[in-house]
Amino acid sequence: MLHRVLSGIRASGRLHLGNYLGAIKGMVELQKNPDYETFYMVADAHAITTPYSVEELRQNRQEVIIDYLAAGINPNKSIIFIQSHVPEHFELSFYFSSVTTIARMMHLPTYKEKVKQYPKNNTMALLNYPILMAADILLYKADLIPVGIDQEPHLEVAREIARKMNQIYKTTFPEPKRFTTKGEYIPSLTGEGKMSKSVEGSYINLTDSLDEIRKKIRAVPTATVSGGPITGGIKTLFILAEIFLEKNLYQEFKEKYYNQTLKFVELKDALAEAIYQELKPFQEKRKQIASDLAYVEKVIKEGAEKAKAVAQKTLKEVKEKMGLI
Ligand code: TRP
Repeated sequence: MLHRVLSGIRASGRLHLGNYLGAIKGMVELQKNPDYETFYMVADAHAITTPYSVEELRQNRQEVIIDYLAAGINPNKSIIFIQSHVPEHFELSFYFSSVTTIARMMHLPTYKEKVKQYPKNNTMALLNYPILMAADILLYKADLIPVGIDQEPHLEVAREIARKMNQIYKTTFPEPKRFTTKGEYIPSLTGEGKMSKSVEGSYINLTDSLDEIRKKIRAVPTATVSGGPITGGIKTLFILAEIFLEKNLYQEFKEKYYNQTLKFVELKDALAEAIYQELKPFQEKRKQIASDLAYVEKVIKEGAEKAKAVAQKTLKEVKEKMGLI
């Protein structure tokens, strides 16, 4: 059976290691399977649900596309597009809002966090964020979604909307499931919460140099002596070490930690080096792609056309079934 895959990244800053491990790696993996039709989007409209800079948004939309291409997403295999180039997303999201209660949206942890972060910007767009995300997914009838675990509450909303729409209007939406990867939860370098673009000092950019990575990793807070419970910054280091270091080396560091002989700087520098080695081929490819913006523009234009063809078909079906055509 042919599956559709859709994922998106908010165009709200440069991509970081958490996006790479939690989403992009899974996106590249799924693209390899010929049974999957893959749609990869830049969520620019989602980026305006919290305060933003117009100029930066314009720039970031293109940067995320370049990141996708540099990470190995291939426009001959995947449909790469910018959300607002397919306005059908907004139309469908309005129809979906008619089967979604305000109470349900207000209880989402993601919504509550953003309101706390931006108390003066508690807008309708923010409240509608999960409905737009459900429209992103269901417009393509995607059933497999490579995203980080923090997005699970949003996928639950998408499933509820699919069920309700199918029940009330006899539409044929699938119930989308999350595609999980090993790096689905990447902790913050501050030792608290997840790696996030909106928390300064929490992340490693995909374009960081070895020096920058080393500096950031060295700044991860640790205890003065090793051997205690693995929490906070120490936990962050070990989660990253498990992903990036050779198994033997990882185990060696862990044993040293429990023996209380670990020098944190040794673990930190080995980790910084390993992260840089993983990012280096990406960085080289990125430079090459960024020097050919005509090509990037062509990918964006063609992606929008291909996405639109699928989107229009679904929207027509929904409008017919809802009595709008
Ligand atoms: N909310 C997602 C995030 O913050 C981004 C996103 C928007 C998305 N639309 C999507 C992810 C559709 C998967 C599918 O990362």
